[in-house]
Amino acid sequence: MTYSIAFHSYKGGTGKTTIASNLSAFLAKEGHSVCLLDLDIYAPSLQTYFEITPKKWINDYLYGDAKFNDVITDISSLIFKDEDGAKPLSNGKLFVGLCASKKEDFIKLEGGNSDFRKQLFHKLIMFREKLIETYDPDYIVIDTSPGVRYWSLNALALADVFFLTLKMGDLDIEGTKKMVNEIYHSFTSYGSKSFLIWNKVAGYCMPSIDKKENVKNSCLKQNNLNIISRNNKRDSPLSLLSEDNRQQQQQQQQQELQAEDQKKEQIDTEDKLSKEVGMKVISTIPCYCDIQFSKKEFLTAVQILHPFSERIESLAQLMQQELQDKDSE
Ligand SMILES: Nc1ncnc2c1ncn2[C@@H]1O[C@H](COP(=O)(O)OP(=O)(O)OP(=O)(O)O)[C@@H](O)[C@H]1O
Ligand SMILES: [Mg+2]
Repeated sequence: MTYSIAFHSYKGGTGKTTIASNLSAFLAKEGHSVCLLDLDIYAPSLQTYFEITPKKWINDYLYGDAKFNDVITDISSLIFKDEDGAKPLSNGKLFVGLCASKKEDFIKLEGGNSDFRKQLFHKLIMFREKLIETYDPDYIVIDTSPGVRYWSLNALALADVFFLTLKMGDLDIEGTKKMVNEIYHSFTSYGSKSFLIWNKVAGYCMPSIDKKENVKNSCLKQNNLNIISRNNKRDSPLSLLSEDNRQQQQQQQQQELQAEDQKKEQIDTEDKLSKEVGMKVISTIPCYCDIQFSKKEFLTAVQILHPFSERIESLAQLMQQELQDKDSE
């Protein structure tokens, strides 16, 4: 049984590609066979991630007569490679189908009249059928373009489950509401399931207790230095210490209250949107600005011990549970 999962969003930069590729790599490492497709026809990015050039692009297959096998590339060795070279760590497989980023290629795929567009959509369906027939993957993960665009809708039409990623911000939320009400319901009424993924939420970057202690210690050191220099000007050391400490404490309390308010506001917004659009939140991923994702960011979830990897693991588990529930409905 093959499940198709699509990532979509109202606005760009919400983390579709990052989460889709990490989830795919994670599932492959868990022993599944996964095929990740770049259907972000308008601005494909997976090729730069993986640094591979396929024999043929998805564009060639859809528009021309490229052979199906030339479009799909097995990149399992990229995931299962350790420092000594390729070493199989699991029976999983990761295949990718990439899109060309040349402008003329995407213009071709935008299609002309509605008959031609129908033909392209039919070819996309055939592409998925062929994929299932040839590779029998457990999951087909599809990365799409943001917004309501022809190819995003085509990709959503193929999906059993789609994830709508969004960031905290008014434009995102209002646009998302509109998009879900106008578009998503027509897909979900045919049986696909959709979920919200809140990405880059606040919270993680607040200093932890340890870090706070460090900040406090370094502040105290700085205070002592201040005291010494002020002492030289014959100020009273005790009164300065308590005044500086008080200011520090006040500042810290203020920051904590602000963070608490922000968190509450965030949770309220999440709940409200979830209710308004009738979609469950399947994952909330903080903004992990401490890991500057490298070019190999699709490997974060399989190579680095980090809370981001835990979120991807939990997303995979919840998704599998939802798919099971869907089957038993
Ligand atoms: N949870 C996160 N914490 C920190 N940075 C993140 C997180 N998720 C994604 N990013 C970063 O945000 C940027 C945008 O992410 P990504 O390219 O995955 O978004 P996208 O939705 O695919 O964008 P587009 O719509 O343009 O294709 C990337 O630089 C990525 O590294
Ligand atoms: Mg993207």
